[in-house]
Amino acid sequence: MSLKHFSLLATITAVLLVAVNCGILTQHADSVPENCLKRKPIQSNYTPEGSEITLGNLTIYETTEKNSTRLIISIYDAFGFSNNNVKEVADRLSKVQGGFRVIVPDFYRGEFWHGDPDVFPPPDMEDLLAWLEEVGSWEDRVQWDLINIVEHYRAEGVEEFAVYGMCWGGTMSLLASIYLPDYLRVAAYIHPTLIPDELAPAVRIPTFLMPTMEDPDLTQFYEILRQNFGNNTAHWRFEDMLHGFASARGDFSDPRTALRIEEMINLLGFFFNRILNIGK
Ligand SMILES: *[C@@H]1O[C@H](CO)[C@@H](O)[C@H](O)[C@H]1NC(C)=O
Ligand SMILES: *[C@@H]1O[C@H](CO)[C@@H](O)[C@H](O)[C@H]1NC(C)=O
Ligand SMILES: *[C@@H]1O[C@H](CO)[C@@H](O)[C@H](O)[C@H]1NC(C)=O
Repeated sequence: MSLKHFSLLATITAVLLVAVNCGILTQHADSVPENCLKRKPIQSNYTPEGSEITLGNLTIYETTEKNSTRLIISIYDAFGFSNNNVKEVADRLSKVQGGFRVIVPDFYRGEFWHGDPDVFPPPDMEDLLAWLEEVGSWEDRVQWDLINIVEHYRAEGVEEFAVYGMCWGGTMSLLASIYLPDYLRVAAYIHPTLIPDELAPAVRIPTFLMPTMEDPDLTQFYEILRQNFGNNTAHWRFEDMLHGFASARGDFSDPRTALRIEEMINLLGFFFNRILNIGK
């Protein structure tokens, strides 16, 4: 990994970042894909296998796998903690590639969009973005939660940390891969809400890009990651899936979606396993 090569670009990007980091979604409201606002969440019949702990006022869902020194943090979408698709993916991911601990923190502290997933699409997108800035502010909340989480699990013997996120969570994973390289080794963005190309040079850790057919093209972003991380980065476009398929809005009972979910979990597990083993 040639860290030197991108330090110059990173410096140039730093100026931009200062602007972006404060309310990334609000500032780029025009670029939030329309598709992100179209569909409602579905009711999942899945019963999560794991259990919950609390860290201060942060509730964290933990999968049953507890015997790994590798932990993956899942960042959900705007529909929050109540939707079980996100927990199903976490449960299944914890069982591939020799096992990982996987957790789903409830960053919004029990809230989700309007407290009612049926209030979607939002009557006014500005409302949704303002709400996300309040319950899911990177600066005021998410980054500190991530740091506390890593410190908590380090004390439990976890050595390596990964992060992935879907929709809003994908954008938080982007920020985590820029700002928290001391805490996280690898990241993935799954049908992310907003991934501006100009931030690619600022990414500090190996990253897997997983857009769908409805998301903006991430080829340019990926090319920059390739320059900086060589083959320790990946890009897989789910050409026949809609934005949201892997989180609250995915109908996992649909056979084709089920197949893609299986693929996604395997690809994610393979990539995380490869990167998280580098230091060993
Ligand atoms: C959670 O706890 C933190 C620190 O203890 C506090 O700053 C924050 O306001 C609390 N958040 C909520 C939503 O209660
Ligand atoms: C946990 O992992 C260690 C090392 O891989 C192994 O020796 C031990 O048996 C495992 N414990 C459980 C409860 O699976
Ligand atoms: C990645 O690149 C390194 C050297 O640049 C090479 O040794 C390794 O085999 C490559 N790994 C994969 C999975 O292509």
